[in-house]
Amino acid sequence: MSTGNGTPPSLPAATAQGTTIKPTDLRGILKYVPRFQGQIFVLALDGAIVADENLSNLLVDIAVLRSLGIKVVLIHGIGQQLVELAALRNVAISDAYGTGVTDAATLDLAIRASSRVSHVILEGLTQNSLKCAITNSIRALPIGIIKGVDQQFTGRVERIDKEFISELIDRSVVPVVPPLAFGPDGKSLRINSDALAAELAEALHATKIIYLTPHGGLEIDGEIRREISVDALRAIIKDKPDQIAETSRSKAMHAVKAIETGTPRVHIVDGRIFDGLINEIFSSEGVGSLVYGNDYQQIRKARRSDVRFIYSLTRNAVRREELIHRTQQAIEKNIDQFFVYEIDENIIACVTLYFYPDMPELAEVGSLYVLPFYHHRGIGKKMVEYACLMAKERGTKRVIALSTQSFGFFTAVCGFEETTKEALPEARLKLYDDSGRNAKVLVKQLT
Ligand SMILES: CC(C)(COP(=O)(O)OP(=O)(O)OC[C@H]1O[C@@H](n2cnc3c(N)ncnc32)[C@H](O)[C@@H]1OP(=O)(O)O)[C@@H](O)C(=O)NCCC(=O)NCCS
Repeated sequence: MSTGNGTPPSLPAATAQGTTIKPTDLRGILKYVPRFQGQIFVLALDGAIVADENLSNLLVDIAVLRSLGIKVVLIHGIGQQLVELAALRNVAISDAYGTGVTDAATLDLAIRASSRVSHVILEGLTQNSLKCAITNSIRALPIGIIKGVDQQFTGRVERIDKEFISELIDRSVVPVVPPLAFGPDGKSLRINSDALAAELAEALHATKIIYLTPHGGLEIDGEIRREISVDALRAIIKDKPDQIAETSRSKAMHAVKAIETGTPRVHIVDGRIFDGLINEIFSSEGVGSLVYGNDYQQIRKARRSDVRFIYSLTRNAVRREELIHRTQQAIEKNIDQFFVYEIDENIIACVTLYFYPDMPELAEVGSLYVLPFYHHRGIGKKMVEYACLMAKERGTKRVIALSTQSFGFFTAVCGFEETTKEALPEARLKLYDDSGRNAKVLVKQLT
């Protein structure tokens, strides 16, 4: 069975049709397993996909992802079901997608449609022997009045009980998240499922969002774009929004938002295609559209206005002696050495890069700090890589780092090697001895 693009045929196709998986197929898929194992994928199914005959195959695909150690959170929309239910009951709805006004009658139908859709998903997951749960972990606030119009029961995510969801995932339960949340009074609010997927991915540190839609992918200028960088997509949204097909607009906007808030990749895949999900994940070409972030786009040189934030960001690490104390004045004086990592205009990490005036072949990386909420997402590594890149661009041959508690990070993750303090320039060696911190000295050759 061929996928037509030279990539391994998928496991679920074989499973669904009761055929045997060829060892060659497995080999193709297995190379991706270590890469994705333990990662969280947020799968967002449009209501139309839940209604599509391919749903049962999709749920088998999800079972395959789980069996390969990929953690899955499932969000669903209800647009199509809401429109159908409204027609059936002869009720005029104020909005079908959770983006406009949700009046009381629409909310009532949305709750009914959502219960039905969630239940269909629960049935399908049960048929694939997967445990699943619907929770009250999404808290929202009413959007309020926009341009003079009260949006009534339309909400925006205020808080996600990520511990609750993570606990479920860790117990091999698939959380099923409907596009409804609970307001401050515990009552329901309608949420747009594309926006919810982006919020959940951020809160859970997901590595991917996969939007499953009833369209071929991200349609720009009449064509499905197979790959686009977030910068290019952001520019199109800003300057030529009409180029983006109406059916792709919400996904495009939320893909940009998700990547800007730290989710590295967003896929938009036709959920009606048999094998589509698995091929998108386990093939180098994919079948849908991929929006990807520039690896270093969130890193920038620090500015004077950042001093206060850098100071409070690193204060805890200073208390734990992970970093040396620097006053706000000292940070300000050396602000040219700082680089910061921003998410949603908040500084969540910093690093310094210092060039020795009398030793041009050597630079020092220091003051590396990542806010604990953002640990284990590759940000620390990215900051060090970026600093090394900057050092290399200036013609530096080696980078050193001094660390008391995170030397394992520098050696195991960033490719540094331990060396002796004699590798330090004379003036730096004196400072090192005077500090009494006895930090390990680490070095990396820039090839
Ligand atoms: C060290 C630090 C920058 C790592 O940031 P991060 O964004 O979580 O790092 P990454 O996501 O790129 O890498 C995480 C990996 O680093 C490794 N790691 C982190 N700290 C480590 C340590 N002290 N020893 C060995 N390995 C370590 C882990 O293997 C981890 O892998 P995992 O995600 O599979 O658990 C962060 O923990 C931090 O800010 N610590 C406090 C300040 C500090 O010690 N700074 C260094 C002083 S120069």
